[in-house]
Amino acid sequence: QSAAAARVCALAPVVPVLVIDDLAHARPLAEALVAGGLPALEVTLRTPCALDAIRAMSEVAGGVVGAGTLLTPADVKAAKAAGATFGVSPGATDRLIAACEDEGLPLLPGAVTASEIMALLERGYTVQKFFPAEQSGGAAFLKSIGSPIPQVKFCPTGGISLKNAGDYLALKNILCVGGSWVAPKEAMLRGDWAEITRLAAEAKRLR
Ligand code: 3PG
Repeated sequence: QSAAAARVCALAPVVPVLVIDDLAHARPLAEALVAGGLPALEVTLRTPCALDAIRAMSEVAGGVVGAGTLLTPADVKAAKAAGATFGVSPGATDRLIAACEDEGLPLLPGAVTASEIMALLERGYTVQKFFPAEQSGGAAFLKSIGSPIPQVKFCPTGGISLKNAGDYLALKNILCVGGSWVAPKEAMLRGDWAEITRLAAEAKRLR
């Protein structure tokens, strides 16, 4: 189930987690992040324009646009229709997983306990999101879970920034990290796309 998610996670050390309030920001934001070397983009379905933002960003050359915050089968359908090429969910339910498999939308499902990780592994998900990462034990947890379950690889998100990303990326079971720090709201409001390209390039150099 995870081959496509693994390819997305291999594109760069950081997947920007994006909350887009203004549709006009979508395209220049995607261009700025891709220019800085971060092609995989997670647009969270947390704002009214998120689906239109996915549509707009999908037209940006070099970008690989996915939908985050998938909670329901309806979210999955809408994300797929908008052009999302992968999905990310904070956790995982039977209904959500079935919807992604039915729609053919590669899913990065969330897990935070050994049992959740094992349940997803049983279903073939060898690449999982660890969320909220810092609040759930952080890099120390992921290092420990890598001993009994080394075959599951993670994209941790939640509370990660330039300061601690390296702690995660140094671990064998981490493919990439996710975070919102590369696309600060203030820079978007100012239209300071050069600053976002700078932050993306700095994040790209993490590995
Ligand atoms: C989220 O889903 O909000 C992400 O995990 C991003 O978290 P962050 O804002 O702490 O980077």
